Amino acid sequence: MYRSHNCGELRASHINTEITLSGWVQKSRDKGFIVWVDLRDRYGVTQLIFDEERTPKAIMEQAQSLGREFVIQVKGTVIERESKNKNIDTGDVEVLVKELTILNESKTPPFTIADQTDGGEELRMKYRYLDIRRNPVKNNLIFRSKVTQEVRNFLSNGGFIEVETPYLIKSTPEGARDFVVPSRMNEGEFYALPQSPQTFKQLLMVGGMDKYFQIVKCFRDEDLRADRQPEFTQIDCEMAFVEQEDILNVFENLTRHLLKEVNGVEIEKFPRMLYDDAMRLYGNDKPDIRFGMEFGELNAVTQHKEFKVFNDAELVVGIAIPGGNSYTRKEIDKLIDWVKRPQIGALGMIYSRCNDDGTYKSSVDKFYDQDDLAKWAEVTGAKSGDLVVVLSGDTNKVRAQLSALRMEIAERLGLRDPKVFAPLWVIDFPLLELDEETGHYHAMHHPFTSPKPGQIELLDTNPGDVKANAYDLVLNGNEIGGGSIRIHDKETQAIMLKHLGFSEEDAKAQFGFLMDAFEYGAPPHGGLAFGLDRLVSILGGQETIRDFIAFPKNNSGRDVMIDAPAKLDAAQMKELSLKLDLDKV
Ligand code: AMO
Repeated sequence: MYRSHNCGELRASHINTEITLSGWVQKSRDKGFIVWVDLRDRYGVTQLIFDEERTPKAIMEQAQSLGREFVIQVKGTVIERESKNKNIDTGDVEVLVKELTILNESKTPPFTIADQTDGGEELRMKYRYLDIRRNPVKNNLIFRSKVTQEVRNFLSNGGFIEVETPYLIKSTPEGARDFVVPSRMNEGEFYALPQSPQTFKQLLMVGGMDKYFQIVKCFRDEDLRADRQPEFTQIDCEMAFVEQEDILNVFENLTRHLLKEVNGVEIEKFPRMLYDDAMRLYGNDKPDIRFGMEFGELNAVTQHKEFKVFNDAELVVGIAIPGGNSYTRKEIDKLIDWVKRPQIGALGMIYSRCNDDGTYKSSVDKFYDQDDLAKWAEVTGAKSGDLVVVLSGDTNKVRAQLSALRMEIAERLGLRDPKVFAPLWVIDFPLLELDEETGHYHAMHHPFTSPKPGQIELLDTNPGDVKANAYDLVLNGNEIGGGSIRIHDKETQAIMLKHLGFSEEDAKAQFGFLMDAFEYGAPPHGGLAFGLDRLVSILGGQETIRDFIAFPKNNSGRDVMIDAPAKLDAAQMKELSLKLDLDKV
């Protein structure tokens, strides 16, 4: 038996018990006549004591030879500690060791295995198994497991059936590039890894499965960010014989359940916001509504004067920064530089100070008088002591820029409290989105999303105005889930694909299997998928999903521990009928 107890378990009630523990040497302190060792496992740390008077000499020497991260087993007696440590659960006791077995030695780890480590990101990723021994990473993985378990229980109890769908498939269009896998048995042909199980879950509905879920890996070859990984996990769900309202209710209940069980937070009803309102009020389809600073559109109160910048703009829009009038000129200039950075791309920023005496002082006093500035304050909801900041230009660009500024200011003002949870449904997304570069429309969610009833005719005349039965769940400014009511008849699906630029042949080649299935009694259906990594990290109070993934990829999509991706050897390339580009070797 390797252990009778774990390293987080022993208390004063165990005093005088004979126990066996196994774990890693966190640290040891050798005073010559006495040695203390902190023994660590997943559950905690227990102090071991060896001393000249009570410990046989051979064991004493062994204890003195222990290095950090050695794996050992000890047998001994639980005794009361002389100086108690209130900071750890086992701090009342220590173990007087009678037998010590070194199960495995360890090289000195390349970084300290402690909550605060000296290891940089790259080094910790290379030795991720050591990083996982540290509390912050370990606790995140345990937290993830708890959330996943809760999800599984909730959905299973709600009658959802967990079904696995294949990973070696054909392209599923979710807007990213595919990762592909060459087929040895089918020369020159490739599988694609699923960007999501979208088409399969719809086929499960045709198969009568009625309520499906799967906690499933998805693969997307896209640029990486803090909230994106090339392989990530979805809680993927689909239901038959449902309307949008049914889906929103089920998954609102799931999220409410998680917030309560995992975070102890009770939230009544989740607010809902139309996509158009989210864009107008927050410049963003995933607004963080933990704080205000709503946009105020200022065209009507700015375009009556001679200020050309505003007069030429499609949209003039501002926000009130609470307490911002205390900013010095230099601080405001820094903010202007911030919005002018290429990542944000604003051409400039106009501001108006709201003084305590009710007067205003703007950077465009030449054009606007006190009455004008009072209107700016009114529209943006600014009070005395605030600073109104205004951007102008092309509607879409300006909204994105001001939205970035709003989030930055909120971050600086500490308004993005990770312990406060503000879920929000954003509904009535547009069906199509114009790709500015190509001039073509593509599906905003995916090609299987149904238009709102009665809007399909609009596809011919005003495609950009067609709204979809599509919704996102937003939590603290992050899109944690999205879904839609699907098209379930062949004709509508064909019309949709035609509008997305698929020829009849292409549509048949890519989605023929789904369209065929629609001819065999496809029920009305819809669903959604949550990003598990995002959900877990936000519930855990963070926004970087990497910290909640056991073996994540770095920003270049590499696993630096196993060194992937890697080249194949020539024999394997040949077997897969892959030709080497000799010029590039
Ligand atoms: P969608 O593409 O919106 O919908 O994805 C659902 C959720 O998955 C998460 N997500 C990601 N998380 C981490 N890294 C990524 N690269 C990544 N990409 C997406 C997001 C997102 O909200 N089949 C549809 C769902 C449906 O219609 O039912 C789909 O995949 O949190």
